[in-house]
Amino acid sequence: MTAPAESNPGPSGPVDPTATQAWSRLSELSRDFAPDLRASFAEDPDRADRLTLSAADLHVDLSKNLVNADIVEALLALGDEVGLTARRDAMFAGERINATEDRAVLHTALRKPRGSSLTIEGRDVVADVHEVLERVYAFADKVRSGEWRGVTGQPIRTVVNIGIGGSDLGAVMAYEALAPYVQDGLECRFISNIDPTDTAHKLSGLDPATTLFIVCSKTFGTLETLTNARLCKAWLLAGLAEVDASDAVAKHFIAVSTALDKVADFGIDPENAFGFWDWVGGRYSVDSAVGTALVIAIGPRHFADFLAGFHALDEHFRTEPLETNVPALMGLINIWHHNFLGAATHAVLPYAQLMHRFPAYLQQLTMESNGKSVRWDGTPVTTETGEVFWGEPATNGQHAFYQLIHQGTQLVPADLIAFVNPPYALRDGDTDVHELLLANFFAQSQALAFGKTSEEVRAEMSGASIDEAVVAARVFEGNRPTTSMMAPSLTPAVLGQLIALYEHLTFVQGVVWGIDSFDQWGVELGKQLAQAITPAVGGDADVLAEQDTSTQSLVRYYREHRR
Ligand code: F6P
Repeated sequence: MTAPAESNPGPSGPVDPTATQAWSRLSELSRDFAPDLRASFAEDPDRADRLTLSAADLHVDLSKNLVNADIVEALLALGDEVGLTARRDAMFAGERINATEDRAVLHTALRKPRGSSLTIEGRDVVADVHEVLERVYAFADKVRSGEWRGVTGQPIRTVVNIGIGGSDLGAVMAYEALAPYVQDGLECRFISNIDPTDTAHKLSGLDPATTLFIVCSKTFGTLETLTNARLCKAWLLAGLAEVDASDAVAKHFIAVSTALDKVADFGIDPENAFGFWDWVGGRYSVDSAVGTALVIAIGPRHFADFLAGFHALDEHFRTEPLETNVPALMGLINIWHHNFLGAATHAVLPYAQLMHRFPAYLQQLTMESNGKSVRWDGTPVTTETGEVFWGEPATNGQHAFYQLIHQGTQLVPADLIAFVNPPYALRDGDTDVHELLLANFFAQSQALAFGKTSEEVRAEMSGASIDEAVVAARVFEGNRPTTSMMAPSLTPAVLGQLIALYEHLTFVQGVVWGIDSFDQWGVELGKQLAQAITPAVGGDADVLAEQDTSTQSLVRYYREHRR
């Protein structure tokens, strides 16, 4: 094993990963690397057992990735040389590892159990977390039981969450994933886009008297959310014209934010607002009060299970040696595929229809976190960062883009996720339909790993005249890397575990690259320019003249063609 050049250097300065001995070793291993998963499995009957690990309820098979013992050893040495465990420990301890915003990164404190503690700058943040959770739970219970009444005395039937990015994606994803846990008679809708179609579409068919709005914004300054909140307020007041406006807002609007002063300015009673803290990144916040819509939908007990699932994975990540640490290994294997084998994208393929928003959720988590070109000390990164994460539930994806994953020229590592027990058990005659789904899950990782040779194709075509062009088109090279994940069922706890797994593997990759995975300056310029261009869109010729010629022409096209 290669000796680490520098072990656990601590959280301050990023280590250049490309200057480590492990990186040199990995480069060497990648030169002339010719993966052959058929041979790897044939020669090593223990491969699947050795590379299958557990993390809480997750059963994770890493054996169909393009790794061997030398590569795994070098990846672990890389983790050591870049100080992965020290930085992990710094995160859990509440050190200010979000360097560019000078903040602690403590989403893990959101799911610490009641009775545990973590003191940061003299405050027990776990006690703070549970105080807010209790308020959210009490409020949710009132809505669920019908004790909380709208201004006309009717119970709430629909909860509309108004938020975007981290104030939307996690809650909507989890609401969809946990549909079987949603209380009968309650529905949640999620408005995010500044496109007014979103608000119009989501409000359609709703009765203002039975609708509760949650304005969810960490900063309470996001243009989309505040605009949509105003649209919803106007809709509510128009629909409840006979009642006092402030009573209507008090009974139909609540807020979730770190900026409670701005909540009051919007006209929402601070009594009906739930806070969180600047040490929670938006994309890491579904397990805070940002999940209030979810708490109302599935109830405090199930939400507590959701949090316990996160915590179980946190404990795995915090305490498990790197050799058997699932998020660490998944993150390091991603580094191998991305930095050494050139995989630019990474597919996430849930074999579970209810997980249909999971890839979209992961896009913010992974790409807003690791899509960076500078390191946490402001120096340029020294290697490629941030794969494009994408995906769709299977088997739909199989009939759409799997062709490219199987036979295209790009390497696309994929995570396949399936659950043993379905939420809805349906039979087609004698056939358990969930087993058809699982057969596809098992088959796809097999096909991707082992492919089909020209000899096998010819054998299949025996009897027919063999056209070699057709043979070539029907060959599958195999050696397409996958991680297969299973869990007993898609429960709140398992969903929490899956989210935490991806949070931590994203962190691992960020540590290797030396980047601050917790800021998101890259979204700011577009916001600034949108504000600057708005007057031109509305007809201000002077502002239009200040724009580049392409933008001027686009705006003119808009103004000439609008009805
Ligand atoms: O613009 C990006 C972003 O800041 C995300 O990081 C965040 O999740 C989203 O906007 C919403 O922000 P807020 O919760 O402050 O409205």
